[in-house]
Amino acid sequence: MMQAVDTRTDDEASFALTLITSRQTLLPKRLFEPGPSAAQVSDMFRAAAAAPDHMVVVPWRFVLVPADKRGALADVFAQALVERDATATPEQISQAREKAFRSPFVALAIARLGPCEPDVEPLERMVSVGAALQNFLLVAHSMGFGSSLTSGQAMRSAALRKLFKLTEGEQAICCINVGTANRRKPGRVHPDVSAFVSSL
Ligand SMILES: Cc1cc2nc3c(=O)[nH]c(=O)nc-3n(C[C@H](O)[C@H](O)[C@H](O)COP(=O)(O)O)c2cc1C
Repeated sequence: MMQAVDTRTDDEASFALTLITSRQTLLPKRLFEPGPSAAQVSDMFRAAAAAPDHMVVVPWRFVLVPADKRGALADVFAQALVERDATATPEQISQAREKAFRSPFVALAIARLGPCEPDVEPLERMVSVGAALQNFLLVAHSMGFGSSLTSGQAMRSAALRKLFKLTEGEQAICCINVGTANRRKPGRVHPDVSAFVSSL
């Protein structure tokens, strides 16, 4: 029998499965201080960088939104709402603004989907971005933090593109929110494996 180069104990394999299947989206309004330290955030991004990346084109970019820049993000959320609904009430605008302040850590995830060298299909690059996001979330979860991804119309707004200096070919995907959760949701029932796996 071939000797495996990588060996894991049953406990390690079981930990990984439990970690992955127990991750859940916790909406930012439920995320509190403490947020992750700079070292913890760095580890989350190291995990993101370990995502499968065909031809290593690094098709992602992340921009942190520190506390003193949340107001600018709030302005973008408000502007995007008014752009799509000119009749938005002051209360709705205030709710949109408030989304920028709901978790201690916020970063914008950006996909780099324009022409690249070597040429890798945008679809494949999006797979890498998704894997990078998932790696990030799993490490946050392993550290005991709650996390969520939040998107919405604002991701496509001109105001957001300007604030984050998105270049042509770059697309904002979602905000990543991380903080301390004060409660878990009832676990989501994951789709049954037989519903999406078949054999030729
Ligand atoms: C790119 C992306 C954007 C998302 N944006 C939102 C969002 O704006 N609001 C939200 O409630 N959930 C958002 N989600 C989270 C999903 O709703 C969530 O993952 C899904 O409901 C499954 O729940 P779980 O993560 O707890 O298993 C987003 C997920 C992805 C992958």
